[in-house]
Amino acid sequence: MATQTTEERISERLELSPEEAKLLKEGTLADTEIQAHPRDFYRAMRHGDPIHFDEKLGSWLVTRHEDISAVQSDPVTFSVKHGYSEQQARGMREEFEGYLREHGGGYFPDAIMSDPPYHTRIRKLMENAFTAHRVKELEPRITAVVHDLIEEVVAKGEGKCDAVKDIAIPLTIRVIVEQLGLDQGMEEKISRWSVAVTAQIGAMQTRETMLENAQQIADLQNYLIAKMKEKEANPTEDMISDLVHAEVTNEDGSKEKLTFEEAVSLVRATLIAGNDTTATAIGNLFYVLTTRPGIAELLESVIDDDRQLNRFIEEHLRNEPPVRALSRMTTREVTVNGTTIPAHAHMLLVYGSGNDDETVFPEPRKFDIERKNIGRHVAFGGGPHRCIGLALARMEVKVAAREIVKQMKNLKLAIPESEITYTPTVATHTIESLPITFEAR
Ligand code: HEM
Repeated sequence: MATQTTEERISERLELSPEEAKLLKEGTLADTEIQAHPRDFYRAMRHGDPIHFDEKLGSWLVTRHEDISAVQSDPVTFSVKHGYSEQQARGMREEFEGYLREHGGGYFPDAIMSDPPYHTRIRKLMENAFTAHRVKELEPRITAVVHDLIEEVVAKGEGKCDAVKDIAIPLTIRVIVEQLGLDQGMEEKISRWSVAVTAQIGAMQTRETMLENAQQIADLQNYLIAKMKEKEANPTEDMISDLVHAEVTNEDGSKEKLTFEEAVSLVRATLIAGNDTTATAIGNLFYVLTTRPGIAELLESVIDDDRQLNRFIEEHLRNEPPVRALSRMTTREVTVNGTTIPAHAHMLLVYGSGNDDETVFPEPRKFDIERKNIGRHVAFGGGPHRCIGLALARMEVKVAAREIVKQMKNLKLAIPESEITYTPTVATHTIESLPITFEAR
């Protein structure tokens, strides 16, 4: 297909099919069917109502790439702090906080989910744990962890496994254990903790699940606090030690450190933010390798060419973005792309839709590693809140891709595609289970 002209794009934007018009009128991102298969809904919004009010969620959905970029580059008008705390334990916040104060060593507001100028200070201190040195130092350790895990699965799987439950999730957890300097053998606990924290931004909790999740988070905090105290006294080569000892020097020569509460919240954020997201990216990689013709061959053809492999990973993150939508809250009335949003309104930046915006990425469903603007995707967000762990995430997905190709071949989905289930959440687009068959290489 030839690249469209601006006029053609605009006229296409104005034309909604009857099905799209119906979807726009009746659809909601709270619907688990739409959460699982959102692309038609995204497209209808982008074309018919790019800043769409989702009544069921009570949120404004920002769906076009251009508008997402504009919103994320103005962190004062569009507050992460208020957006996040509005999402957290929606409607049950006090009870949630009280539980953690009583049972979890305290309530530690997420220091990184904040606004400038406070966010600028925290981000600088947090960057101590994400230096190029730390990422480079982790690569051989991560490669060994990923190699061993896939080897175990291949050895015992007899050509069958669940690519999400047996590989993507445990792999990411083992990596995070290495990265943070936690104890091995905690996979199951970390997985439960991760689900509980992530549920806070998923907008799908009942009171009962909120309380169960609060219990898990309390358990997590108690574990982390003990670990941090250990590393405060005896630093080791890992991210918890980096955060506990983080220090920046201001222009006037004065030094700044994180408070203990801030450090706890950042260790928790590092554990959680990189876990589900990266596991989702790897689960999605298995999904495209088993369902999209030609992708496995394409990956094999680039596996020894670092530049092309990096492009493959970037296009994968654009094509199947793990993070679907994250929150902002308006601090004043504001007009975005002709739509006026009131003050104190909750918004979701729908990164999943931005990555499919055909005005930026022609033929968005085509997996094309030759795209000229391959790096413009918003899978890692943008602006001052752009993912702090992106170098680590890219490396981890790349290492996983390499090890999959080295050790497995002829990957096939073991269930009909229509039976794949997704985690009910607005925040990510996550496959829950992906049974596959394969041959050992
Ligand atoms: C493929 C994997 C990943 C994806 C798709 C992803 C995606 C994102 C996105 C979209 C944001 C922007 C948040 C916003 O706009 O409000 C973000 C922020 C963040 N990410 Fe990631 N992430 C990934 C991996 C990681 C890893 C491995 C870590 C750490 C170990 C991490 C830590 C964070 C943190 C702490 C923030 C908040 C940054 C801030 O607000 O300044 N992420 N990530």
